[in-house]
Amino acid sequence: MNKPIGIFDSGLGGLTVVKELKKQLPNEQLIYFGDTARIPYGTKSKELIQQFAMEDARFLMQFNIKLLIVACNTASSLAIDTLREHFSLPIVGVVRPGAHAATVQTKNNKIGIIGTPSTINSDAYADEIKLRMDTADVYSQACPLLVPLVEEGWLDGDITRLTLEEYLNTLIKRDVDTLILGCTHYPLLKKSIEKITQGRMNLIDSGLETAKTVKEILIKENLLNLDNQEFKDQYFVSDNPLKFQKIGSMFLGEELTNVKRIDFEKFLMENKKLLKNIQI
Ligand code: DGL
Repeated sequence: MNKPIGIFDSGLGGLTVVKELKKQLPNEQLIYFGDTARIPYGTKSKELIQQFAMEDARFLMQFNIKLLIVACNTASSLAIDTLREHFSLPIVGVVRPGAHAATVQTKNNKIGIIGTPSTINSDAYADEIKLRMDTADVYSQACPLLVPLVEEGWLDGDITRLTLEEYLNTLIKRDVDTLILGCTHYPLLKKSIEKITQGRMNLIDSGLETAKTVKEILIKENLLNLDNQEFKDQYFVSDNPLKFQKIGSMFLGEELTNVKRIDFEKFLMENKKLLKNIQI
């Protein structure tokens, strides 16, 4: 089906999902929204995260998308049910695919999760893991300093290493063999994490697992784009696009030329009525 896929995240972290989608589904057109004006979501309340997620989704609905990806662990953990209640298209979050992969890959049933404080406090990952594997020992660690480091482009170096060591210490001591990178920003730190864990943990990249799930759904629901038409992906942000463009290009390994800043406040004002009918 010749319609785009919509993706949102609070910032540029969702590009980890985009990277995988481009590999696995090169024929699909992607429309991305990064809410860079309101990042971080990971320290905000459930109510606010649900409101933001609804607004981000409403923005993407303008493009007549066929499937919505919540490429933000925080929004997936706290707002996916709200989104599913209000929109009837297929909605894929990053939590379920990541939790599933962890239960398949662990050998000693010791699974670690790192994420933002809101994701960790929601227990969304732990609940999904327990549903699939009630014998699993789950160890969760909130890592509030990692998102700012990634947004700054500090993917290695002493400060990042020391911060990671502090956060990962307990999980290493607990002999965790599988670690869920429960925040869309963390795959960018993969190399640094591998060094600290000395390659002893399977690192679960929710982005990669999510792209696999999206592909399965598109096939099952007959939604794959079968045309060989070349599409240009579009990226929208709610604040200055320069940083998104710079770090995003570095990360995707290609020049991100199609990034536009939108006046999100104006969009929200214009759509006030639509959003007001939504009970959160
Ligand atoms: N995108 C968020 C997540 O995956 C991290 C950034 C934020 O706190 O907004 O949890």
